[in-house]
Amino acid sequence: TVVVLDFGSQYTQLILRRVRELGFYAELLPYDEPWENVQKLSPSAFILSGGPASVYDENSPKIPSYVFESNLPVLGICYGLQALVHQLGGRVEKSPHREFGPAQLEVVKHIGIFEGVPNKFTVWMSHSDRVEILPDGFEVIARSENSPYAAIRSLDNKYYGVQFHPEVVHTQHGKDILRNFLTVVAKLSPNWLMKNLAEELINELRKKIDGKVILGLSGGVDSSVVAMLLHKAVPDKLIPIFVDTGLLRKNEGQEVVKQFENLGIKIYCVDASDRFFKALEGIEDPEEKRKIIGHTFIDVFYEEAMKLKQQHGDIQYLAQGTLYPDVIESKVAERKAGAKIKTHHNVGGLPEKLPFKIIEPLRYLFKDEVRALGKELGLPESIIYRHPFPGPGLAVRIIGAVTREAVSILQEADAIFIEELKKWDLYNKVWQAFAVLLPVKTVGVMGDYRTYENVIALRAVTSEDGMTADWAKLPHEFLNHVAKRIVNEVRGVNRVVYDITSKPPATIEWE
Ligand code: XMP
Repeated sequence: TVVVLDFGSQYTQLILRRVRELGFYAELLPYDEPWENVQKLSPSAFILSGGPASVYDENSPKIPSYVFESNLPVLGICYGLQALVHQLGGRVEKSPHREFGPAQLEVVKHIGIFEGVPNKFTVWMSHSDRVEILPDGFEVIARSENSPYAAIRSLDNKYYGVQFHPEVVHTQHGKDILRNFLTVVAKLSPNWLMKNLAEELINELRKKIDGKVILGLSGGVDSSVVAMLLHKAVPDKLIPIFVDTGLLRKNEGQEVVKQFENLGIKIYCVDASDRFFKALEGIEDPEEKRKIIGHTFIDVFYEEAMKLKQQHGDIQYLAQGTLYPDVIESKVAERKAGAKIKTHHNVGGLPEKLPFKIIEPLRYLFKDEVRALGKELGLPESIIYRHPFPGPGLAVRIIGAVTREAVSILQEADAIFIEELKKWDLYNKVWQAFAVLLPVKTVGVMGDYRTYENVIALRAVTSEDGMTADWAKLPHEFLNHVAKRIVNEVRGVNRVVYDITSKPPATIEWE
């Protein structure tokens, strides 16, 4: 395992993703993780992430001594480099020029991490401290205008450090540099393949599961992949539960059931829509809606699980589609209660109060890995590439109070938007696209009549991970066509607008 120690950089997860994309298994741990936990992973190399601290601050995070004692190859990135230098006897100081953004790197020695890269290329910098004096036994291998020691290595070839961020896409040859560190310096060979992973996960589940297992299946890619894994591992023990909240996209319930039937998986469906609409009656505040939906979902799920337990007796496990970012996020949240922008994952995180052992086969994977795994397992593309859908569903896409009527207007408009995106071959080019129903009425004219009806806002964004997003530059003819269809076909709507804000400062959803 390539162990990435996190010193708090916003790019740390990217390091991990790049390493895994290159075919090496990597895990992310806080910089002060005790050795006994690291040891369990059989570490093969360390990567030290960047971070916001300065090494000369009194309480700055330190590289743990086991990193040095382990004798394993180490790559320090940004703060990781500075900490290496500082702890090995060199000097780091505040730089006269802070360096943020692109910089020209000049490689002075094509060795180790720089094998096969050009002499000059653009890298991404983000730092205000810089190395001034190297520790003994180190040499410089690249420089930039503001960083005379932009990349260094120890002469015994064990330690490498870069001031720039090879993990971000703006750094040219960033992937080559990381690959070189893993293959040339650490002498590892890629071993992280989806095919092996699928087999491994299935075997593990088969070994572990000796009673029935329930799964909240939403039809999204995560829970669907979990369903497939369990279906392949323990076909007669899996009981997938699909809760229809009434807040799903048009016809979604039927489609999910059909798709899984085609895969030989029978779903246990619960229509709980009345309950959700009742609980949401008159509620306008988004966070309030999320809470209510979260609680209602848990209640419904719990009751159904109990009923099933009576029928099937030995239900012992609850499977969930938790992903690695959620795991990291909750670890971080445990450490410092971060600012809450929206209460996410209220549906994903079923409570501990359920009397089942939790199974999370995807807890070490990123979304793109889950998609690749889904493909390997034979899930149809329509599931693998389905846009993310929030747990609270259409309730957070209806601004203000949620009613059945509002949901059905929104479903119709949304279905037209999605259908056309697919027809125009745009669906897979955006991260997420949907319609939002606004509680304002505006005046229109249709035929000879004045109308006074609702507004639909269309939202489509491009994104890597949903954390930041840009509004999608959909063709005007396309938007024109969709707007026309919505106004003509959806009763109660006489105006369509397109949302052109990015995240930040807006969020992807409207509530
Ligand atoms: P925002 O609106 O925060 O959305 O930019 C980022 C991503 O998260 C999804 N989202 C949610 N998912 N429960 C969920 O399970 C929620 O309450 C929730 N709110 C937003 C959103 O669809 C986007 O993919």
